[in-house]
Amino acid sequence: MPKTAVIAGATGLVGKELLTLLLNGYAYDKVIALVRRPLHIKHEKLTEMICDFDQLETYEEVFKADDIFCCLGTTIKKAKTQAAMYKIDVDYPVAMAKLAKKKKAKHFLLISSMNANPNSKIFYSRMKGELEQKIKALNLPAFSIIHPALLVGNRDEFRLGEGAAITFYNILSKLFSPSKLSSIGIAADVVAEAMYQIAQQEKTGTVTYSSKDLYKIAAQNK
Ligand SMILES: NC(=O)c1ccc[n+]([C@@H]2O[C@H](COP(=O)([O-])OP(=O)(O)OC[C@H]3O[C@@H](n4cnc5c(N)ncnc54)[C@H](OP(=O)(O)O)[C@@H]3O)[C@@H](O)[C@H]2O)c1
Repeated sequence: MPKTAVIAGATGLVGKELLTLLLNGYAYDKVIALVRRPLHIKHEKLTEMICDFDQLETYEEVFKADDIFCCLGTTIKKAKTQAAMYKIDVDYPVAMAKLAKKKKAKHFLLISSMNANPNSKIFYSRMKGELEQKIKALNLPAFSIIHPALLVGNRDEFRLGEGAAITFYNILSKLFSPSKLSSIGIAADVVAEAMYQIAQQEKTGTVTYSSKDLYKIAAQNK
């Protein structure tokens, strides 16, 4: 039976790829994108909602859906402070998960990160670990945690550290297959394909997917 999907972060590297799959695949007849700026996409399945993420509860009816995909995130360069980054990477996804629970959404899928760990000394890994902890505590009916390594894809913006790591990844990719490099990097479209497929499986409880898992799931469905 066709389902309703909600996606946040649909303008991002993974989110863009996932939105295309949600719109063009057969699984969903309605796709609601929560965005803070227009997508400039017209599609019969798409409902675009430009929202203030500080007021997510205003849009709670949207969360009466089947699958909720959270692809939100930022960088410290953009956010400027750790507190501002935490709000986008943790507070907004947690607010979404609470609304998903309240409105009885069936499945919540979250892009976190490899090395997420609430006890880490590294702010980014600790933040992602805390994010997972907070959502796990909600006991959602089905919670899928996506743990990608470095995301590889074409970004509109320049990210210095990531750019250097991607150059290194691209050199290695001439020698090794993408799945062999999954602990270093993973293509954004592979992450999106795997998320799409995971959402089509009957799930209960919390499951965490490594980049290696994501490659396998995406490859099975190609
Ligand atoms: N980069 C990596 O190598 C890497 C590795 C592992 C995990 N991750 C994680 O994977 C996730 C997805 O990464 P990505 O690279 O696909 O993300 P991205 O390209 O940076 O996109 C992030 C999305 O979040 C939205 N967003 C940012 N700030 C927002 C705000 N204040 N209010 C509302 N929306 C906001 C962006 O909207 P706008 O377009 O409007 O800004 C965009 O749609 C992130 O959580 C990231 O931490 C990244």
